[in-house]
Amino acid sequence: MQNNTENNILAAVDPTSIESIKSDYNSLDIGLGRGVYVSTYGCQMNVNDTERMYSLLEMAHFNPVQTPEEADLIIINACSIREKPVHKVYSEVGRYKKLKDKNPNLKIGVGGCVGQQEKEKLIKQQPLIDFVFGTDNIDNLPNLVSQVYETKGKEKIINAKFEHRAPYHVETLVRNPGVSTFVNIAKGCDNFCTFCVVPYTRGREKSRPLSHVVMDVRTLVQRGVKEVTLLGQNVNSYHTDNGAGGEYDFADLLKKVATDTDIERIRYTTSHPKDFNEKLMHVMADHQDKICEYVHLPFQSGSSSILEKMNRGYTREIYLEKIALMKKYIPNLVLSTDIIVGFPGETEADFQQTLDLVKEVQFETIFAFMYSPRPFTKAAQFTDQIPEYVKNQRLNHLFEVHEKMAFELVKKYQDQTLQVLVESINEQGKAQGRSTQNKLVYFMGTKELIGKTVPVRITQAFPSVFRGELCQ
Ligand code: 5AD
Ligand code: SF4
Repeated sequence: MQNNTENNILAAVDPTSIESIKSDYNSLDIGLGRGVYVSTYGCQMNVNDTERMYSLLEMAHFNPVQTPEEADLIIINACSIREKPVHKVYSEVGRYKKLKDKNPNLKIGVGGCVGQQEKEKLIKQQPLIDFVFGTDNIDNLPNLVSQVYETKGKEKIINAKFEHRAPYHVETLVRNPGVSTFVNIAKGCDNFCTFCVVPYTRGREKSRPLSHVVMDVRTLVQRGVKEVTLLGQNVNSYHTDNGAGGEYDFADLLKKVATDTDIERIRYTTSHPKDFNEKLMHVMADHQDKICEYVHLPFQSGSSSILEKMNRGYTREIYLEKIALMKKYIPNLVLSTDIIVGFPGETEADFQQTLDLVKEVQFETIFAFMYSPRPFTKAAQFTDQIPEYVKNQRLNHLFEVHEKMAFELVKKYQDQTLQVLVESINEQGKAQGRSTQNKLVYFMGTKELIGKTVPVRITQAFPSVFRGELCQ
């Protein structure tokens, strides 16, 4: 199956891809074996970006180290989706003062969404920071660091410009992909939900060419990867030219990855309810052997009037209709979601609708947050902000309601046999893996099982972790 399109795909891969980056950076011996430590906050996109940073810096002869104490270069790859993580950057840099006093060659950089959002403000507020870079400037990181070392830290360097016109070509760069890894398919977001800073920190939405993603997955399979998670801020608004005057959408991409590669399992995140269409459900249903039955579908609020103020593009009813349809296509569907409580103007009745929706859909996992006003966003200007203590009460109440529900919901897994892809095994023989439902499962096993999908009978099912026994 793989060979039919091999040549087309090879021809389609961008000649400016990683091989040429590698040769550029290999000749740039700025690292001189210096230790680099990257501290990561936030979503999977950031985790993936950190891997990219390490890989690029390794090409330029830096040596990744495990602790900031061992490093000559510290990078904080930070998240700005809510306010708290931004504060964390300042306190983390503050903690490195002692290290800078001891090692005058130590350089500190801040990247990720915080770098993009705050730019020179970071350096003004925290002079220990030597350089700042944005989410579109990661591939330039070795050059940037080279400049930092050249100026011996006398000049502060800021590189946080969006590359609006450049196409999005990012081959996956992971040092040790292991059994399961992430593959970026799109970046940025054009949805402008009124609470969200991502369109400002990640820029306009851009999709990678379909052939590049397929090629990337094949390369990862050759490196031993068994499971990929296709990654984007809003994966199902993915769209690229199909070369015949039309477009490939996310359903087409998912199908191609399922049919044209030997990957064993496919997941994706994050999807948006407004773009979740029947074509996609169809592809999931047709390829259940590879595409996991787990979907993360943030609903944010159960109240249609709040959803409108959030600019989400769907109502409570539409969300519920889509869930019902998804369950028809994929009867064993497992769902998780994101929820915001205390969005401006949220009444008790609106919040009650959120609680009701959680109960109605029976999410096994929720990720819930108190609304946090973000720079540049519309909702930050709304005058009907909710007091912190109310947000706090609502969040705690939501977690309480969900926790009780989740304990009951996962009881159905007790004594079931799940297919677990084994990711690692510790010294005591405790194996860790994930089931197709995205459940973290522990059981006793041997090293040979790593990378294999094995049947495990569940003996204890808690909302966030399962224990089981390998079926012989
Ligand atoms: N305040 C609180 N939560 C937010 N999220 C995004 N922006 C905000 C904000 N300003 C949440 C949403 C999103 C998840 C990644 O973070 O629920 O789906
Ligand atoms: Fe933010 Fe909305 Fe885009 Fe998600 S879809 S990244 S919440 S703007």
